[in-house]
Amino acid sequence: MSGGLPVGGAGRAQASLCHDSRFSDGTRPLPTSLLITGASQLLTLLGRGPRRGNSLSNLGVIEDGALLAEDGRIAAVGKRPKIESLPAARSAVKLHLGGRVVLPGFVDSHTHLVHAASRAEEYELRIQGASYEEIARKGGGILNSVKKLRAATAEALKQRALVALKRFAAYGTTTIEAKSGYGLDVTAELKILRLHKELVAEQPLDIVSTFLGAHVVPEPYRSTPNGTEKYIAVLIERMIPEVSRESLAEFCDVFCDRGAFSREQSKRILEAGRQNGLVPRLHAEQMARTGATQLAVQIGAVSCDHLEQVNTRDIRALAKSRTVATLLPGCDFHLGLKKYAPARRIIDAGAVVALATDYNPGTSPTLSMPVILSLACTQLRMTPAEAISAATLNGAYALRREKQIGSLEVGKLADLSVFEVADYREIPYYFGVNTCWMTMKRGIIVHGPDETAIQFSEETCRKAASHEKSEA
Ligand code: NIG
Ligand code: FE
Repeated sequence: MSGGLPVGGAGRAQASLCHDSRFSDGTRPLPTSLLITGASQLLTLLGRGPRRGNSLSNLGVIEDGALLAEDGRIAAVGKRPKIESLPAARSAVKLHLGGRVVLPGFVDSHTHLVHAASRAEEYELRIQGASYEEIARKGGGILNSVKKLRAATAEALKQRALVALKRFAAYGTTTIEAKSGYGLDVTAELKILRLHKELVAEQPLDIVSTFLGAHVVPEPYRSTPNGTEKYIAVLIERMIPEVSRESLAEFCDVFCDRGAFSREQSKRILEAGRQNGLVPRLHAEQMARTGATQLAVQIGAVSCDHLEQVNTRDIRALAKSRTVATLLPGCDFHLGLKKYAPARRIIDAGAVVALATDYNPGTSPTLSMPVILSLACTQLRMTPAEAISAATLNGAYALRREKQIGSLEVGKLADLSVFEVADYREIPYYFGVNTCWMTMKRGIIVHGPDETAIQFSEETCRKAASHEKSEA
């Protein structure tokens, strides 16, 4: 490696994701270009459109590929000799990956980033036999998190979210979606959404903000006659217009399910969102089949997420639509449920499938996309290639960011992850072990080995390279 590698968040606000204080002063000059070589496999995900059916298996793998990044964007990608011979490559800072696998940074298109605390007490109750819905009916569940969030200061919430963001990066994620939904009154919902904005400015990952004021009906509305309608009026007349006025979210989501909002109520809320410039997406068919998927397709929602309870008609409707079917197997795993979404049928019908963590304290307290890939492979019977497409390019489609992220393509952001494996199938294969070696966001290393390790690996690589040459 020559010159200084772009480590940390220089160019944006201080790199709170940077692991090493030596790099957090923001003064290191950013090289204008960076040449990455030495990948055993470079998964480009090149190709048109969202991945459906067979095309989900097309990762656009380049063996011994190379990538040139300039000013945080991908300037060239292809076979190593071709990229290395470009004039800009000669003067670029060089990073040799020693045979590891490179892929686009994960796009985690469904998270509930901002929350105050875990719900480990409910986890234990469930293990002892209580169901998620029983706990929720007794005032636990989402309402438990609402109580905790309202009592927490914005600063405490921010610190917790920053720790989570650092971990997202450590598992190879470079963009997340984040929903409100644990505030459920004007003040607390705005507190969450304003935090999303602050977090975007204070650390390097991209955060795409979603308003989920319609998570469940909170107290005191629950125990008020006609309370649900009254809360919906607050959502439509006060919260949504304010979210839009302050540009605090791009999407509006509703938990359309048993114990939350009906299909008809969800439709009204999402239409109000749309009138205020918020693009609809939905939590659909998680606990019970409510017709939420049909609604999502009908109103052109950008995604509909969960889908454990979908029926054949729902799958057919999804397949004919552009609505992304986002599967969240972390929930079923964490809740100990056996009924995962019928991923094979959804994929084989031709729907656009994405995978996400659903990082949240109630049903899926993980922020590891590689763990989600492992679950997708073993529980949803997706192949490793399908799972990777679903977690990168199709995730970008689910966030309407497909022109900027999700594949390693010229002009897109230099958002990538490097895994300590020689074959991409080993990413889901090793489960519960973090094989993510490095994560780069806009050409800047936001997670990686310390400088010594990078130098050591370069030294090793140089020796390996000269050995290869003498053998040839
Ligand atoms: O996506 N289903 C609704 N929302 C979350 C769970 C929220 C919670 O239990 O705190 C989900 O699974
Ligand atoms: Fe969710």
